[in-house]
Amino acid sequence: MPIYHKLGKIPQKRHTQFEKPNGGLYYEQLFGTIGFDGMSSLSYHVHRPTQVKEIGKALDVSPKIAVEKNITSRKFIGFDVAPKDDFLEAREPLLVNNDVHVGLAAPRKSLTNYFYKNADADEMLFIHKGSGTLKTFLGNIPFEYGDYLIIPRGMIYQIEFDTEDNRILYAESFHPIYTPKRYRNWFGQLLEHSPFCERDYKLPQDLQTFDEKGEFLMKIKKQGMLHQLVYATHPFDVIGWDGYNFPYGFSIHNFEPITGRVHQPPPVHQTFETGAFVVCSFCPRLYDYHPKAIPAPYNHSNIDSDEVLYYVDGDFMSRTGIGPGYISLHPAGIPHGPHPGTYEGSIGKKETEELAVMIDTFKPLKVTENALKIDDGKYYKSWLE
Ligand SMILES: [Fe+2]
Repeated sequence: MPIYHKLGKIPQKRHTQFEKPNGGLYYEQLFGTIGFDGMSSLSYHVHRPTQVKEIGKALDVSPKIAVEKNITSRKFIGFDVAPKDDFLEAREPLLVNNDVHVGLAAPRKSLTNYFYKNADADEMLFIHKGSGTLKTFLGNIPFEYGDYLIIPRGMIYQIEFDTEDNRILYAESFHPIYTPKRYRNWFGQLLEHSPFCERDYKLPQDLQTFDEKGEFLMKIKKQGMLHQLVYATHPFDVIGWDGYNFPYGFSIHNFEPITGRVHQPPPVHQTFETGAFVVCSFCPRLYDYHPKAIPAPYNHSNIDSDEVLYYVDGDFMSRTGIGPGYISLHPAGIPHGPHPGTYEGSIGKKETEELAVMIDTFKPLKVTENALKIDDGKYYKSWLE
């Protein structure tokens, strides 16, 4: 997160004695990425954050691959993913490679009886249905429909939902998730042409400090395994912190679309970048205004990226047979484009209410067994007259 933030109490100078009111010292922790070269935060803990008591059995949660090498365009009926009580068990990885796992989850219950950390991946949670609060050791972030939650690797968190009706698109990214470099100046500040700015971020707030000893279960995802560690102190024992490495939220409704006289290419919708994929937000917007404009996209041959589009809400101008929660996969290697009739049918239209999230990966995606269960099986023929 390329802005500075701080919460709670911190010492005047880093790496110096920070005394508790009743004696003893707070324990400093550097929480960083990319060795000591990436963004980092310094947090101050009531207890040493290293007190592992037990290590339990690890569970293999790696995705089960059904199609290793795919060239089939596919459509997945996302709301057919069955709700499950547990936040992690609800996750169904659908499209995966070594860079990212993309999946859906419909968790019914809040995650409050253990703590969770993804040690390998930054997590992006896109909230399609539901609301609640993301709770972390660096503060809390209330979320609602349309929010992206970006949770850097290593963040310990819990999540509280307001109801049992929750639908989440998630990406576990093995590369850090950043805002696009071209939106930022050399200091990191978002530029005037960026479709969003720092004011749009939902930063952690309401830091709560728990000075508790006992048994605290933490499930840690690492190398496809879910490890279970029991800590002797409450993981949310931070009295204060500052720095650049922390979770944040951003509402898709705050993305300001860039439009033009003629059709604008997908990069104008870009919201996040990594070294291996991009995330774009397709939001309600006015259509192209050249007198001869064709609002529907041209056919395009994304020869070296797999294109995953998650349909959130509104109408989907260039597609037929698409509803909320559907995912389309347009694999690298073959062109795709508007469905029959939609190219001509788009002429003269002034605006769209479409809302969608796109994830384009630079390396091919594998299709999981979970994905095949919700694959409509015939989408690849949907461009025939
Ligand atoms: Fe496309």
